[in-house]
Amino acid sequence: MEDAKEEIRARLAVEDVVGQYIELKRAGRNFKGHSPWGTDRTPSFMVSPDKGIWHDFSSNRGGDIFTFVMEMEGCTFREALEKLAQQAGVELKRYSDDDRKQAARKQRIRDCLELATKYFQFCLTKNKAVMQYVFYKRNLNKKTVETFRIGYAPKSGRALVDFLTKRGFTGAELEEAGLVNRFGGDLFKGRMTVPLMDVSGNVIGFTGRIIEQDDNSPKYLNTPETILYNKGRHIFGLSQARDAIRREDFVVVVEGNMDVISSHQAGVCQAVATAGTAMTEMHLKSFARMTKDIRLAYDGDEAGIRAAERAISMASKFGIYLSVIDDYHGCKDADELIQKDPKLWQAAVQNYRPALEWLLEKYVDKYNLKTEKGFQEYATEAKRLIEQIDPADTVLREKYERQVAERLGISLEAFRAKKVAQPEKKKLKKANVVKNTTVASRAEKNLAALAKHGIDLGDFEAQKFNPDELDLIFEEQYSKWQNDDLQKEAKNLIAKAKSERREVERKELEEQIRAAEESGDEALENELLQKMNKLLRSK
Ligand code: UTP
Ligand code: MN
Repeated sequence: MEDAKEEIRARLAVEDVVGQYIELKRAGRNFKGHSPWGTDRTPSFMVSPDKGIWHDFSSNRGGDIFTFVMEMEGCTFREALEKLAQQAGVELKRYSDDDRKQAARKQRIRDCLELATKYFQFCLTKNKAVMQYVFYKRNLNKKTVETFRIGYAPKSGRALVDFLTKRGFTGAELEEAGLVNRFGGDLFKGRMTVPLMDVSGNVIGFTGRIIEQDDNSPKYLNTPETILYNKGRHIFGLSQARDAIRREDFVVVVEGNMDVISSHQAGVCQAVATAGTAMTEMHLKSFARMTKDIRLAYDGDEAGIRAAERAISMASKFGIYLSVIDDYHGCKDADELIQKDPKLWQAAVQNYRPALEWLLEKYVDKYNLKTEKGFQEYATEAKRLIEQIDPADTVLREKYERQVAERLGISLEAFRAKKVAQPEKKKLKKANVVKNTTVASRAEKNLAALAKHGIDLGDFEAQKFNPDELDLIFEEQYSKWQNDDLQKEAKNLIAKAKSERREVERKELEEQIRAAEESGDEALENELLQKMNKLLRSK
């Protein structure tokens, strides 16, 4: 790969590659042109043939021929490599072979899962007792069973494996599809099967509900993570709910997959589920692309409360309006409510309350305000929660601050002044801010350029960039500046860069929190959440 890259670089002149997109004029040793991203009046895009690089002063991007094509075509590195390899007449045979293999492998697994789905669907029609369970006990109708492609995995233990093997799938493929147990037999046995689908409706795995509950088997069994199925990303029911979510401009997130299915049958087709209450940031981001109105319909139990807490801290970052549906008329979940009366569920999803308000009320039940301990704990938790609100939203903050102060019978000022006890200090790992992207902030790049040309940055550590690019930046921007002005510039840029780095740190923490959440490591997750709190509060 590196070889091919160097070979291509050697064969193609940077000004020729760039010249295919932008009109370049010679300017001394370099070339100049108008930025393809900015609206510069004077040409701010530079190409240095000696150095083999480009830099755009209006948008602060820069890099080599590969990154240029990536930026212009909006493509991946691989795609840029392929395109330029062709221009340079360099063969990338081994590389593209691997790529094709991977795609073919995924397709095989999809085919395998599709066939398994059909097999399970067929088995359902052949088993009266299970039909009874699906159509009468769960009360699903024919259309629902078809839309969600519900089926049945026979008890025998090898039925599916035998079927798929006869159809030409290898043991390795069945394993990769997540369909076998550790003895090589069927993973799903004696279960109602519900396919997990990607957004396009391809089957990527299954969840199976036991039909005759015993003490030894879990109620639900899911496909393990595979090359197709990622638990932290997957949203159950999304392919069926997508249109409705867009049309109605809200999404209802329920706890169980069966709740989703019943909800759709009851006409609330905006319902989806994440695996249990484990909503991750990736889930929220997917929702936020479709609608900002997210309604959680979790149990009001401890798990539901913690899920809402987590979601609140994430939601404020994506401009999401998060609310809670909690009127189940005494039923345990959406499915039960729908069995009672679908109309009650239809009304419930319109009867939603801001998540923050709901949580602050839940805390009243959780802590006994009559005792001093409970009073203190409530004040602390409430304060923590309210601090999650965007500080710019002074109106919303005050609303909740007032509410809590009144509830506690204290003054608004006293509640505002309350300092939330900080969790014990742990050393933050230094954020890895050096990222291998073509877009670095202007501040970071210019600081590195200044440092390279002898300007003292004090204790600020500049990032590493292509030294040639830094020379180009310095020559173009700073070569005529007085030392005083350079010092001032450095000071301003350092302030800017520091705040940007903090932001990077925040994003990284977010990512770690998500990973901890996904792995179910609660202790780590809590520790990280506390770090996040601290970071957000530090100046
Ligand atoms: P519940 O126990 O509330 O199940 O678990 P449910 O959705 O109401 O199921 P029914 O109505 O009895 O069929 C909520 C969710 O937690 C996950 C499933 O996603 C389930 O929908 N779960 C539960 C498991 O993954 N495994 C289990 O053994 C139990
Ligand atoms: Mn249920």
